[in-house]
Amino acid sequence: MVEKGLGKVLLSREHLQKIVERLGREITAAYQESENELVVIGLLRGSFIFMADLIRQIKLPMTTDFMTISSYGDGTVSSGDIKVVMDLDETISGCDVLVVEDIIDTGNTFSKVIRMLEARDPASLKICTLLNKPSRRKIDVQIDFCGMEIPDEFVCGYGLDYAQKYRNVPYVGIYTGSPV
Ligand code: IMP
Ligand code: MG
Repeated sequence: MVEKGLGKVLLSREHLQKIVERLGREITAAYQESENELVVIGLLRGSFIFMADLIRQIKLPMTTDFMTISSYGDGTVSSGDIKVVMDLDETISGCDVLVVEDIIDTGNTFSKVIRMLEARDPASLKICTLLNKPSRRKIDVQIDFCGMEIPDEFVCGYGLDYAQKYRNVPYVGIYTGSPV
């Protein structure tokens, strides 16, 4: 069943599961040889469902941490002025840091987050995003692990929201602009 307000299903549960399994394999292979502590950082709130599934597909010891960022903008496009609403609990100096994001759109928010984390001196810093909208990019972001590139549509479900709704929808659908 398609949720009210969501049109086409872009990524079904089965498709999401395949993507997450593939990303888990890629990430496991990438860090297999490293002797540093692996810290997986989720950017709240959009990444929490993806991150919960993803970390169970990464077959390596790790710790997890979370950060909440708010970006100021006109509501539909982030401006790039960011505020740390909740910071990490732990220091990341000397660690292999993997940042998990739901979607990279203009890149405004994410490029600032990356700069801030780089200043904390991690041994390495890599980025995993479930979705990527390259056609909307304003600031270049180096993505290491990408679930899927999508067209310029506003999508919801599997953690992604419109006005904080639809995060619990188990698939990713295109928001059609009607009921929330
Ligand atoms: P950016 O700074 O423009 O890259 O903003 C990225 C953030 O905007 C993401 O972390 C999402 O929270 C939000 N966002 C961008 N596109 C979508 C979308 O299609 N659906 C839901 N949230 C989105
Ligand atoms: Mg987000």
